[in-house]
Amino acid sequence: MIRARVLVCDDKENFTKLFRRLLPEDRFDVTTAPDGDRALALIAASSFDVIVSDIRMPGADGRAVLREARARDPDAEVVLMTAYATVPDAVSAMREGAFDYLAKPFEPDEALLVVERALERRRLRQQARDLRLALEGIHRIDHLVAKSPAMTPVLTMVRRAAASDATVLVTGESGTGKEVVARAIHASGARSAGRFVAVNCGAIPEALIESELFGHARGAFTGATADHRGLFEEADHGTLFLDELADLPLAMQVKLNRALQEHVIRPVGGQGERAIDVRVIAATNVDLKARIALGQFREDLYYRLHVLPIHLPPLRERREDIPVLVAFLLERHGTRRTPAPEGFTAEALSALVRYDWPGNVRELENAIERALAVSDAPRLELEALPDEVAASVRPRLTQGAETTLTYREAVDLANDRASREYLMNLMRELKGNVTEAARRAGMERESLHRLLKRYGVRSEDFKGRAP
Ligand SMILES: Nc1ncnc2c1ncn2[C@@H]1O[C@H](COP(=O)(O)OP(=O)(O)OP(=O)(O)O)[C@@H](O)[C@H]1O
Ligand SMILES: [Mg+2]
Repeated sequence: MIRARVLVCDDKENFTKLFRRLLPEDRFDVTTAPDGDRALALIAASSFDVIVSDIRMPGADGRAVLREARARDPDAEVVLMTAYATVPDAVSAMREGAFDYLAKPFEPDEALLVVERALERRRLRQQARDLRLALEGIHRIDHLVAKSPAMTPVLTMVRRAAASDATVLVTGESGTGKEVVARAIHASGARSAGRFVAVNCGAIPEALIESELFGHARGAFTGATADHRGLFEEADHGTLFLDELADLPLAMQVKLNRALQEHVIRPVGGQGERAIDVRVIAATNVDLKARIALGQFREDLYYRLHVLPIHLPPLRERREDIPVLVAFLLERHGTRRTPAPEGFTAEALSALVRYDWPGNVRELENAIERALAVSDAPRLELEALPDEVAASVRPRLTQGAETTLTYREAVDLANDRASREYLMNLMRELKGNVTEAARRAGMERESLHRLLKRYGVRSEDFKGRAP
């Protein structure tokens, strides 16, 4: 049986200890945090089924923990613990998605019961969602969602990687989801009980990188006042994610290659070696083959990492994923706004689908967050999107803009607009009834479907709505 992962955060040790005693070890894997900041770091590094957090703590408070947990994983259930004086805070936190609260002092049985109920709700919610996703042909592995044929090989490789312990190399343009892939492999594999440690190879100064990765012994260099565990050791029995791999200096590439080959590390200035049990997933958005040709990347390391290569196609080559990602990302960020939005208007969604997304999924996510910040409409409108995105359905009608186009482009644009407007009106009038709409338009149902898809008009959006 898979044990439920529970995080308990409280600055008072008797409460964290209480939960350790309370939750049977054969069914629960309990992690504790002594303050809010530590809790946020743990939530970022791994995933939890249920989080029990005090409201008032040093560092981030319980509500910040709640927000971060729900933003990382909308399925995570959060239970807040509160003293008498902060009960109103706990009640308002439930409006932001907390599952329940425990008023201190509470009976142990009460606490066990609330954790059990939170787990049950999470399970039911996931079941319902998985069923709905399966019906719509959407795949989801942890926080990775996809529907397009272009992502089929990616999903296959993620599953294969999760089932194995081999080194993985994830490539793809910036913002295509390389880290999401790495986390999905970790979360669905045998190492999920261990930590997922992410390190950005480009962000660590060259002089420090060796000691960051492999650790150092006391006195190894000026300032090394104590032994220091490196990230490899932090990730022992878990996964080490080496992001921006191409930024790793050549000398470090040699040492990394050796660590991977021999499964040992040698702390800087230390005596001897330490065995480590770490799966490495590396990611890069540069062409490593080209770097090899330039002598900037070691070929031996490349082949050692390349055991399971996963390439993420850019978003513009998998537009079928866009509506699915939009729904997923809206669920992630929508709870920050009350009332949460129902979605985007058909026109806005069509702009999202047609735009070319040079920044890929990250840019899409930013556009969604921006829309949530600037609009409080139940359905987010075209106007809430960044100009360049909105322009993908409705080029800015500033004076004379049309004449900057070639004749062909202007005619295509006018055609597009007219077709779209026609389809929108038709769907509005017939409340999304495609069969009836096809008859009225004088075409086959299949052809109408294709047109609706091409112009991003979703018949579902018109179902049951007043014309
Ligand atoms: N398939 C996906 N399903 C759900 N969310 C995704 C997917 N791909 C990307 N995202 C979201 O898009 C954002 C960017 O993804 P991620 O950080 O994994 O990209 P990246 O390839 O590592 O980018 P960079 O090269 O800039 O580091 C994240 O917030 C992530 O949650
Ligand atoms: Mg990244």
